Amino acid sequence: MRIRTAVFPVAGLGTRFLPATKAIPKEMLTVGDKPLIQHAVEEAKAAGIERFIFITSQGKTAIEDHFDSNPLLERTLAERGNTKELEKVKSSQLSPGDAIFIRQQQPLGLGHAVWCTRHLVGNEPFALLLADDMIIGGAPCTAQMISAYEKLGRGNYTAVMDVEPLHVSRYGILDIESDDGWIVKAKHVIEKPAPHRSPSCTAIVGRYILDPMTFESINIHNLGICKEIQLTDAFYPMIQAGIPFYGVRFAGQRYDCGTKEGWLEANIANAFERNDLREKLLTTLKNLKIRE
Ligand code: UTP
Repeated sequence: MRIRTAVFPVAGLGTRFLPATKAIPKEMLTVGDKPLIQHAVEEAKAAGIERFIFITSQGKTAIEDHFDSNPLLERTLAERGNTKELEKVKSSQLSPGDAIFIRQQQPLGLGHAVWCTRHLVGNEPFALLLADDMIIGGAPCTAQMISAYEKLGRGNYTAVMDVEPLHVSRYGILDIESDDGWIVKAKHVIEKPAPHRSPSCTAIVGRYILDPMTFESINIHNLGICKEIQLTDAFYPMIQAGIPFYGVRFAGQRYDCGTKEGWLEANIANAFERNDLREKLLTTLKNLKIRE
């Protein structure tokens, strides 16, 4: 089945980025001149996604506004002849009917956020993108995930990368059955294991293609690690039911923009990739070194 729907959970509290995220959603923090959530939506669009489902919460209306039209701003830019800026504003809109916003009333965890979309997604596989994981370089990561799905067929897919052994407790980790260097098939997936109990160092990154059976498999009565309903806990019952779990080693570099250092690195990497900013960035970094 073609993947036409993408789900974007944006209902978290963003506590690691306070006070910046007190009144502004974490997903509206910018990398370059676009908010994180716009980078994720553009990645999904580039992969052929047509329906965009956002799981929001109180205080996140800026996200809805960002993908809407802004008639006053557009009229003013048009009157002033600021065509470039007008084009940027217009291209950040989603077409009428393509964007759906629903609310997660309490931040009960990623598994719960995804479960909230069950009536909207229906009985078809869908993409899931965590906007605070930004991937720079390579083909759009969601397109890479869809390529793997088109090759291997029904299953649950997640982007994976290898992490330092000491860092495994920050991630969902795969218990590996086979690994051909591109696709890692897992027999189990464990959320945030202690380093000495971790089955591998192959970690989940926030890009998924999920089977609709995920909705039944998420147990909303079962609080997992960190006292949250974890999406990762839904995968083992599906593996047991014969739905394979694949990790996809993607091309590109992942930045954890939910942390200050990851967000800073992503901004530097983004500027480095851009013709209009690279030279200025290099000069600034050089001058910083001189001042050391
Ligand atoms: P994170 O755990 O990285 O986000 O969830 P958070 O909870 O906002 O961050 P901290 O730990 O407090 O700093 C990954 C994604 O899942 C969403 C978040 O908005 C983020 O995009 N999320 C998380 C939800 O939508 N609902 C939740 O209950 C939890």
